Amino acid sequence: MRRRTEWFGSSNTLKALKFFTKFEQGRSTYKDGRRSFLLSRYQPMMPAASPARLQEFTLELATHVVQEFKDQPGALISALHKLQETFGYVDEAAMPMLGKLFNVSRAEVHGVTSFYHDFRRSKPGRYTIRVCQAEACQAMGSEALTAAIKQQLDCDFHETTADGNFTLEKVYCLGNCACSPNIMVDKQTYGRVTADSFKKLSATLADKAQLSKEGSK
Ligand code: FES
Repeated sequence: MRRRTEWFGSSNTLKALKFFTKFEQGRSTYKDGRRSFLLSRYQPMMPAASPARLQEFTLELATHVVQEFKDQPGALISALHKLQETFGYVDEAAMPMLGKLFNVSRAEVHGVTSFYHDFRRSKPGRYTIRVCQAEACQAMGSEALTAAIKQQLDCDFHETTADGNFTLEKVYCLGNCACSPNIMVDKQTYGRVTADSFKKLSATLADKAQLSKEGSK
């Protein structure tokens, strides 16, 4: 009894609190570390660029942003990344310019962009939705969820909805397997998604997209 009183005495309580705080901090550092490891290991090659930061494509700007790779051998992929980061996609009109810059044929530039699925060839929608297709999410019903999402948006992977609101992509593990099945909208992950919850989420996002379209008029 006396021991128990001592343990809960002021200095020991403080020690215990410090111990548990450190323990919790350690645990979340471990979790964060593991999460970023998984994200860097399994995230698709291109991070989801924020639509707000995307620029309207012009050949002049495209030529300008890839200049830094000019004299670097084998930098075509880096230049394509830069274009996608800037405009959200690689415009057809940039192909001849890239061919010239890297001394390769236009067909070769086409070959590289079509080989890597992460390079988009058309302007992405207002929101990019990535649906996890990896094992843990599969085990928790991502296949049925994917079918429901495709049906609801009426578009397939690598496509954009007719209203320009959503682009649908696959992803392999978002590092949030405990809350499968997962999707990611731009940079925000949503866990334990169901067909119904997706319906609500996409309706909210569509409303937001509509408001921002009206605001920009
Ligand atoms: S399998 Fe890990 S988040 Fe889907």
